[in-house]
Amino acid sequence: MDKERKLIIAGNWKMNKTVAESLDLASGLVRELKDVKEVDIAICPPFTALSEVSKAVIDSNIRLGAQNMSQNGYGAHTGEIAAGMLKEFSTKYVILGHSERREYQRESDELIAAKAKAAHEAGLKPIVCVGEQLEEREAGKTEDIVGTQVRGSLAGLTTEEMLGTVIAYEPVWAIGTGKTATAGQAQEVHAFIRNLLAELFDADTAKAVRIQYGGSVKPDNARELMSQPDVDGALVGGASLDVRNFSELIKNSI
Ligand code: PGA
Repeated sequence: MDKERKLIIAGNWKMNKTVAESLDLASGLVRELKDVKEVDIAICPPFTALSEVSKAVIDSNIRLGAQNMSQNGYGAHTGEIAAGMLKEFSTKYVILGHSERREYQRESDELIAAKAKAAHEAGLKPIVCVGEQLEEREAGKTEDIVGTQVRGSLAGLTTEEMLGTVIAYEPVWAIGTGKTATAGQAQEVHAFIRNLLAELFDADTAKAVRIQYGGSVKPDNARELMSQPDVDGALVGGASLDVRNFSELIKNSI
C-alpha cells in the first residue's frame, strides 16, 4: 500500500500476560514479523514484563512501548512509574490517556498533556489517545469532544515534540466491542484531527504527524482501515494478544 506516512501499528496488551506468556508472544512476533520493513511495529506489554520483553526484541524490528507513566520525575510517588524508569528498558513509546485511564482513573486532558511533556523530556514518544463515547457520537458531538481532547492533551508541546508524537483516535464505543468504526467514519475524524493540527501547529507538522485508528482492529478489517488517506496505523488491543492475529493484521495492512 502506498502511504504518505509510514504506518505505525502498536499492540496494547493492557492488563494481560504473565512474564512467561509475554516472552512467548514477543519471541513469536519477532520470528513472524522479521521481514516487515514497511510498518513501524511496537508492542506495549504490562510494566512487569518490560524488562524481559526488551531483551527478546532487542535485535529486531519491533520496538517497545509502555501503557502509561507518571507526569513526575523520580521521587515520592508511591505506585507510579517515571519515564526514566521506562527508558532503562529501551522503551521507545508510551501510550497516554487511553480511554480506560480517562474513564477509570479519571485522567484529564491537563494531566495527559503534562505526561506527554514529561515523556518528551525523557526521550519517549507518546501515543496520545482521544475518542468519543457512543452517546457523544449519537448527539453529534464527536468533533467537539475529540477537538477538546486534542487541544487539551497536546497543550504545551513544541512543534518538534508534536512531530515526535503519535495520536490514536479510538472511538470508545469501538474498543473491545467488535464494533469497528467504518473506514469512512475513521477517515472523517482523522481528517478533522489533521486539520486541527494545522491550526494548532502548522500545515507541514499536520501533514507529518501519524494518526492511528484503534477500536476492534482485526486481521480482516485492517486493510480497509489502513487504506484511508489519513489513517496512518493502528492501536490494537484484543488482536495483539496472539502471534497469528497480530502478525496477520500487520501483514494485511501493507
Ligand atoms: P481493541 O482495543 O482492539 O481490543 O478494541 C483497542 C485499544 O483499546 O487500544
